Amino acid sequence: MKPKVYITRKLPSEVVYEIEQHCDINMWEEEDVPVPQEVLEENIKDIDGLYCLLTETIDDSLLQKATKLKVISNMAVGFNNIDVEAATKRGIAVLNTPGVLTETTADLTFALLMATARRLFEAEFFLRDGNWKTWSPMLLTGQDIHGATIGIVGLGRIGEAVARRAKGFGMKILYHNRSRKPDVERELDVEYVEFDDLLRKSDYVVLLTPYTHETKNLISSRELALMKKTSILINTSRGGIVNEAALYDSLQSGVIWGAGLDVFEEEPVSLDHPLLQLPQVVALPHIGSASIQTRLKMARLATDNLVQLLKGKKPEYIVNPNFSENITESVKE
Ligand code: GLV
Repeated sequence: MKPKVYITRKLPSEVVYEIEQHCDINMWEEEDVPVPQEVLEENIKDIDGLYCLLTETIDDSLLQKATKLKVISNMAVGFNNIDVEAATKRGIAVLNTPGVLTETTADLTFALLMATARRLFEAEFFLRDGNWKTWSPMLLTGQDIHGATIGIVGLGRIGEAVARRAKGFGMKILYHNRSRKPDVERELDVEYVEFDDLLRKSDYVVLLTPYTHETKNLISSRELALMKKTSILINTSRGGIVNEAALYDSLQSGVIWGAGLDVFEEEPVSLDHPLLQLPQVVALPHIGSASIQTRLKMARLATDNLVQLLKGKKPEYIVNPNFSENITESVKE
């Protein structure tokens, strides 16, 4: 008998075909609407594997309903939508898709930095609204990118890929990370600095750290006040890392110059969100990894991860490698 798997969003047919070779599947058939929580609650009861997206909240109360679940395969590198502790205590493996989206997300991060610095979208709307009357010395002037200092918060795979791009633009590169990376410092000519120093010295503060209890509201009024008046904040990680009310106040009162945001505390962000009312904010709908090639790679990797685990093998990337050792007595019973 094939293991039973629930897929929480309509996937490309080639990916569905691949999963079907190994599993009995049931899938939420909508492409643009997330699966309602009650549908997920019903379906999780008797499945062996769950294939989900970052739009699903996989918490303790949902997992309580799962009687046979062995694996949650998240089609994302971030996994803050999953209560990993709750999964681990039940012996459920949590799998993600690192690696395949690194370069694409770094491309988008750099594109967002450039679009914010050079006011690309504002300029485009200016033209399309019929406001372009003449060339003018200070019209739509932004901030220089070449030669500026970029401060990368979180020098993981994507952080390093952003540093490589910044090097090509002749930028000075600072970073802050939980641990220092001497090899990367040598290879990419990046300098480790304390967090506050990074905020004080950078023209661009780029957030690429995972979203955890420690990084929630990492950037709030105190941190924004340390930044330069001409600086730009870029967030392509998770919205909750920035206190959005504090960011709004800082932009509004000129404490910092601009912000490029691909992520928001609540997604989709509401159109009347204060940050969307500011011209110096470039806002994108969480598209960091959204190239056709990369999204297909992510979908295939999440598939391989799921199938391998269900076959009793260990996939390369496991968020909770100790998942099988940690089943607590109460859960086992
Ligand atoms: C996207 O945000 C991801 O975590 O893969």
